[in-house]
Amino acid sequence: MSYRVTLLEDALAFDVEPHETLLAAALRADINLPHDCKSGTCGTCRFRIVEGTVDYLEPPMGLDPEERAAGFGLACQARPASDLVAEIEVMPSLVEPPARHRATVRAVERLAADVVHLALDLPEAARCDYLPGQYVNIHFDDGRSRSFSMAAPPRGRTIELHVRQIPGGAFTERRIATLAPGDALDIELPHGSFFLRKDDFRPLLMVATGTGLAPVKSILESLMDDPDCPPVALYWGARTKADLYLHAAIEAWAGRFDDFRYVPVLSRPDADWDGRRGYVQDAVLADFPDLSEQAIYLCGSPTMVGAAKSLFLSNGASVNHIYADSFLFQH
Ligand code: FES
Repeated sequence: MSYRVTLLEDALAFDVEPHETLLAAALRADINLPHDCKSGTCGTCRFRIVEGTVDYLEPPMGLDPEERAAGFGLACQARPASDLVAEIEVMPSLVEPPARHRATVRAVERLAADVVHLALDLPEAARCDYLPGQYVNIHFDDGRSRSFSMAAPPRGRTIELHVRQIPGGAFTERRIATLAPGDALDIELPHGSFFLRKDDFRPLLMVATGTGLAPVKSILESLMDDPDCPPVALYWGARTKADLYLHAAIEAWAGRFDDFRYVPVLSRPDADWDGRRGYVQDAVLADFPDLSEQAIYLCGSPTMVGAAKSLFLSNGASVNHIYADSFLFQH
């Protein structure tokens, strides 16, 4: 027997067949709910259960016990056990459907010992529309793909990526090492639900680790010199100073915002580091004991994103104002 799901704010409704997830049924009904991993880890498809109940085959990793107790679910894993009324953001129509292109390498530059800046040109006929914060898939002949967030807002036909090189990685180390201007790559974009919510006017708290900086940089560059930009606090977690591969550039961003605060945090600080130490989410909490007024954007490892969400929710953050993108490093 199927169940009826009604979305609270958008007056949309759809049926979910037995054994179907809420996300699968919504997409089948052409209702574009936010999602990324579809495996219950990233938390992007989080929704609030207003009425009704859901079941899971297994407790999803991306849903904290606090969130579940507070009535939240993950649409990519939840199977309705009754008719439901749910609150979830329907993706705005300005998000372009992904399209496949043959891109050309424009430049490969080293940013740090293990981070490369990769610039790709799309073909002339291609539309290069994406929302700052979204990502691209690079497809290989063997059918595998890798995902990388754009590190800058749309500018002409060029996209920029920050690629962390994993020792022995088939693409991130071996293929990147041999890429040269003029080489071709199959790409597909845009993807992802991590982007600035323009209708969320709260002060922005951006928290990134490692190359999780890339989509945050893309969002922030799209807000530079905007007189309506709310106050911005950027916390960037890394292991050592050498990992802060855009440290000087970010310090200069202060001149492009009315109210900008940048806090780098090192977990394995160099002896001469006189900045913040420890885990980035702990540094945020030391500075913001009450997070009830912030719009919070988290991007980095699942460990950081999961820990930050739990901590922040326990300290007043609203689950409706946390936007997260977590990724595993890809070989
Ligand atoms: Fe559901 Fe990632 S899409 S948790």
